[in-house]
Amino acid sequence: MNKIGETINKKRTELGLTQSQLAGILNVSFQSVSKWENGSTYPDIEKLPELAAALKTTVDALLGYKGAAADYDNRYAAKDYYWGLRPNRLCFEIMQLLPPVKPYHVLDIGCGEGKDAVFLAKCGYIVTAFDISETGIEKAKRLAEHNCVHVDFRKVDVMDFTFDRDYDIIFSSGVLHFIRPAYREELCARLKTHTTPNGFNVLNVFVQKPFIVRASDGIRDESLRSPWRSGELFGYYHDWLFHVCREDIFDCMSGGTPHKHCMDSLIAEKLGAGEVL
Ligand SMILES: C[S@@+](CC[C@H](N)C(=O)[O-])C[C@H]1O[C@@H](n2cnc3c(N)ncnc32)[C@H](O)[C@@H]1O
Repeated sequence: MNKIGETINKKRTELGLTQSQLAGILNVSFQSVSKWENGSTYPDIEKLPELAAALKTTVDALLGYKGAAADYDNRYAAKDYYWGLRPNRLCFEIMQLLPPVKPYHVLDIGCGEGKDAVFLAKCGYIVTAFDISETGIEKAKRLAEHNCVHVDFRKVDVMDFTFDRDYDIIFSSGVLHFIRPAYREELCARLKTHTTPNGFNVLNVFVQKPFIVRASDGIRDESLRSPWRSGELFGYYHDWLFHVCREDIFDCMSGGTPHKHCMDSLIAEKLGAGEVL
């Protein structure tokens, strides 16, 4: 098997599709799918977008492109914590709304070196957290160990993450600008589906403002990052109850050069059965 064959086989199996079913969706023979998976042939380039859509993934992921992971692996290789250890303000805000008086389940998407995931676990939440960077995840595991808490850390791309349960809190800070604009609405819909009734989504995203100069932020492949439209995130949650909905402009020193960012932050609650806005 080669990398793309392995990925096709893994995704197809996760989705519970047979080779014939996948072949039917793509209008190819099941022998073609079998050959792709065992590495004896490759899918046509023109088929890749359709194949990625059928497997609920991206062409980049099919091709094994590491994307942002390579950059973050480098940053996280240093001994110090690149983003520091102070928990994000949103952690304190969600704790006020849903204090850990019960074993609530939290998912931290793009957890980096784990500062927020470990903090939330220390506070008593049951935390699952993942990131695309292997180095970040290893460092996050050490941070949890050092703080004597358990966090279920996983190395996975958000576009490939399979929900094995619903969560009371889905949290993500500073990550979703790595998701291509075309996938954002669908991703938010997935997060909403996998949130328990009266559970929360706690998200922030970088947004573009015409008066803020775009900073490089040290990412080598600029095409990976694309800020959201101002208010776009709030729009995807129009049917949830907003507890926090704000746009901030702040100074940042990441990458070593002073620059500014604009960020939309949202804490929204999923309504329970029979509840209306
Ligand atoms: C700005 S850092 C934020 C890290 C962490 N949330 C924090 O606030 O400390 C962005 C993180 O998103 C991760 N990331 C980027 N693309 C991702 C993807 N497709 N799936 C999962 N994580 C991703 C990066 O590896 C990086 O750790």
